[in-house]
Amino acid sequence: MSRVWNFSAGPAAIPSVVLERAQRELLDWNGSGASVMELSHRGKLFIGLAQQAEADLRELLSIPDDYAVLFLQGGATQHFAQIPMNLAGEGDSADYIVNGHWGEKAASEAAPYVRVNIAGSSKADQYLRLPSRESWQLDPRAAYVHYTPNETIHGVEYHEIPDVGDVPLVADFSSNILSEPLDISRFGLIYAGAQKNIGPSGLVVMIVRRDLLQRVSRPMAKIFRYAEQAANDSMLNTPNTWGWYLAGLTFQWLKAQGGLTAVGKRNHAKAELLYQAIDGSGGYYRNPVETSARSRMNVPFTLHDSALDAAFLKESETAGLLALKGHKALGGMRASLYNAVPLEAVQGLVSFMKDFAARHG
Ligand SMILES: Cc1ncc(COP(=O)(O)O)c(C=O)c1O
Repeated sequence: MSRVWNFSAGPAAIPSVVLERAQRELLDWNGSGASVMELSHRGKLFIGLAQQAEADLRELLSIPDDYAVLFLQGGATQHFAQIPMNLAGEGDSADYIVNGHWGEKAASEAAPYVRVNIAGSSKADQYLRLPSRESWQLDPRAAYVHYTPNETIHGVEYHEIPDVGDVPLVADFSSNILSEPLDISRFGLIYAGAQKNIGPSGLVVMIVRRDLLQRVSRPMAKIFRYAEQAANDSMLNTPNTWGWYLAGLTFQWLKAQGGLTAVGKRNHAKAELLYQAIDGSGGYYRNPVETSARSRMNVPFTLHDSALDAAFLKESETAGLLALKGHKALGGMRASLYNAVPLEAVQGLVSFMKDFAARHG
């Protein structure tokens, strides 16, 4: 069996060592004689796993004690709606910074539950740059400020945490969580769909300042209320036990990699290698994003002649480089360089790109 280099935007590569361990443990997890998927989430064994996963995540991100960690379901999309339900009361407004497709979606899904104020947008620039913090028109009475630190489709990333004063900062970290150290204390709430840097789809990790959990008492079913999830250790109903297990293995893998400082350095080196190859190709390949806004995780690029796209995709796949097709909204190519994509994969991609350019001229 040979594993390809997987550049998928999500669901994305999972570290081979994590998959191999899951494979070894699939039929008999932790001496139970059963798969982790076959055990009660209320049992001692699974509760131990859940607690360890949370402890490892807390260690990796140095999460302060006044923050709760939740392991939820529904994808990031469900939380686009659930966040305003939990953080905004009747008549409140919230500021949204829209710097790509997902920010747009977060704002539109929030609209039934909160007055959405688009406080900054780079839509007029086709999301090729970021609305700078100075340009944001924030309302100090807003219930919260929401932004998307890394836009997966457009390949733009904020490299600094914006200062929004006392208004809670809420961030969709789906495509860059755990890619480098993060100062959690700067945020009110962060959340991430798992299927890029954490594990399989179907799990959402949320880190929320505990005082915010008590903020809103609008009528809503318990299942939507984050305070209830926190009070029940994210087990108000049956959680995604398999996703939680794989997330836990991924956290252990990240610790074994040297933690997020080491992982962040590696991610930086990977992205730099690919951007250098694109910029140094004499226009054969192009990434149109403003240099300071370029994402370390998702690198969209085009070929100088789109008639070569099909050949590029076919030949790259034959060379063992998977999922380089760009998002349909942008066309061209996209390489996602999440944590589980090693430097060798990017080296392989870069040498393929050089070779392709030499052969196709
Ligand atoms: C930044 C970002 N936010 C939200 C989503 C949507 O996530 P989900 O499909 O888990 O709802 C994605 C999915 O790719 C994403 O990249």
